[in-house]
Amino acid sequence: MEVIITKDRSEASQYVAEMFMNVLALKDRPVLGLATGGTPKGVYGRLIDAYTRGEITFHHALSFNLDEYLGLGKDDEQGYARYMKENLFQFVDFKSENTHIPNGKAPDPEKECARYSDLIHAQGGIDIQLLGIGDNGHIGFNEPAKTFKRHTHIVELDEKTREANARFFDKKDDVPFKAITMGIGEIMQSRRIVLLALGEHKAEIMERFLGTEDIDPELPASILHAHQHVTVVMDEAAAKNYRKGEKHEATD
Ligand code: GLP
Repeated sequence: MEVIITKDRSEASQYVAEMFMNVLALKDRPVLGLATGGTPKGVYGRLIDAYTRGEITFHHALSFNLDEYLGLGKDDEQGYARYMKENLFQFVDFKSENTHIPNGKAPDPEKECARYSDLIHAQGGIDIQLLGIGDNGHIGFNEPAKTFKRHTHIVELDEKTREANARFFDKKDDVPFKAITMGIGEIMQSRRIVLLALGEHKAEIMERFLGTEDIDPELPASILHAHQHVTVVMDEAAAKNYRKGEKHEATD
């Protein structure tokens, strides 16, 4: 596992954006795995800037988002379809039929999970997957549990997760109790994974995650220790408690 520590969130976002730009430039049909939450916003900002300068295009790319709240659809303000539109899609030249997000409003959510899994497999898996990390170690919405789930599935959100995400809603009561998330198997089949962690509030979970190579479904991100090609990018604040191995400075 490669660990990159940058001096601030701006450098970290730039570093990750460049990883995505390389995949966009090198592949005929790049499949991007995208994330939501506060963390990736700077990455998307830099991708928009690069697109605006004419340096990259998304016209040949596909995307799969990690997750969506159950009950929220493409027009809901707090839904991830809206987030992606507002933070990336409306500013770049992705073909809308090539961007995929689980439909939280599907009449048969189980069927929607199976459809989403099949679609990822039909496209040959993901070339580069962007991940954030929850305070409890979740990736996507794969919450701490007794076992890992392989495929896209419905998950009951942890109270901690609902609390952490309440800031995106008017009040905590509005945060859905369930979500659809890509499974651990689908995330692990990505050819390359980049986990981005920004800010001091991520220091504790990053210390737990990087402090041991044991794989434990109670700390879902720990599965990444079993992947061949993971890059962890943190700003100094998130890396505050990280002591293992050497510090790598990002160069841009
Ligand atoms: C959310 C998302 C995750 C995200 C994580 C961290 O609940 N489902 O994909 O990585 O929590 O969010 P943030 O970046 O806002 O800290």
